Amino acid sequence: MNELAADLEALAAFGAEGAGVSRLAWSPALLDASRWLLERARAIGLQAELDAAGNVIAKSPGSGPAIVVGSHIDTVPQGGRYDGALGVLCGLAALRRLAADGFSGSRPVWLVAFMDEEGARFGTPMFGSRAFVGEDLRELGTRRDEQGVALAEAMAAAGFPLAEVSRARAVDQVECYLELHIEQGPVLEARGVDVGIVSHISGSIDVRVGLVGQAGHAGTTPMDARHDALVGAARLIALIRDEAAAANVRATVGTIAISPGASNVVPGAAELSVDVRASEEATLDRFAGRLAELTAAVGKQEGLETSVSETARLAPLTLSSDLQQLLSGSAQEVGASSIAMPSGAAHDAMIVGRHVPAAMLFVPSRAGVSHRDDEYTSNEQCALGCEVLTRAVSELAGGA
Ligand code: GLV
Ligand code: MN
Ligand code: MN
Repeated sequence: MNELAADLEALAAFGAEGAGVSRLAWSPALLDASRWLLERARAIGLQAELDAAGNVIAKSPGSGPAIVVGSHIDTVPQGGRYDGALGVLCGLAALRRLAADGFSGSRPVWLVAFMDEEGARFGTPMFGSRAFVGEDLRELGTRRDEQGVALAEAMAAAGFPLAEVSRARAVDQVECYLELHIEQGPVLEARGVDVGIVSHISGSIDVRVGLVGQAGHAGTTPMDARHDALVGAARLIALIRDEAAAANVRATVGTIAISPGASNVVPGAAELSVDVRASEEATLDRFAGRLAELTAAVGKQEGLETSVSETARLAPLTLSSDLQQLLSGSAQEVGASSIAMPSGAAHDAMIVGRHVPAAMLFVPSRAGVSHRDDEYTSNEQCALGCEVLTRAVSELAGGA
């Protein structure tokens, strides 16, 4: 087994759940994994710390603005072992190569594992990269997880006061950003191509829809006198699916909370999360408008109070054409076939790439599967992508 494969296996042990991994933001599993990564980075001579946002930052020596390579090591619940983790560990492998050459390049290279890319626990995706670029995140502290724990409380318990998160801003010291990631879709495998060079990344909005009716006795409330919030939710979920298909949008209701939540009580309230993705921001805006209309219509039909609020937005991003060219040259040099392709998934590169030139490299995902415990990319595919990334990092660092 090569060192990258061994690292992947070691990292997958943190938060292991069956075949998959659960490392949610600020959880002990994620923090233990972060400390493991710090040790791996220190072992090759990097200066490695957790910053005020819980990002792992490991720096090679050198002067001038930094070349940053990274991704994230948090996961969705019962996620796979490659999403995010592979990009971080390939970054580590690239730095290992520079270390073997005595960091002979003149530029500093930073490996970064961003905190909470997934946003799965508090609905706060890209928390770490947003802090890294200096966004003000203090208002997110009151977001609560399913257990009712607030983000600010979870951070404080881990030793990271939210009030100090602005200290994580470091983008002003950065020259550019590179991120390797699994494709999370079927294109590379279907076309038999080694790597994808990402041209642009779709935008997304996260919307919370609230439906409030009236709880009541399941045995005595007449069927025609109900204001059942879950029936409204069911109607709405099907309408969202149909509307998204017609509008060339990806829309997903991924969570639903019902109250009071008992088998013998008519549901009085429901809250749904709606994740919407599209490559154009205008399309997202149009869909958000339609979602508000559909929700109001269902509310009227079922006699429910409704509310719709946007909780997160990531605008689409076009990646740096110079860095895309660099990656494509690196692919050629190491003998990897490549194509340009868009990303339907969101990535930290969307945040960092608004401030400095950024690029992304995809490796194939078996059957396009991701956000599942059977995510898989072979060791050979990982190693080849890693080689392309390493080549590009070396060139940027001046050591190639
Ligand atoms: C990140 O995994 C996303 O939600 O696209
Ligand atoms: Mn993900
Ligand atoms: Mn990811």
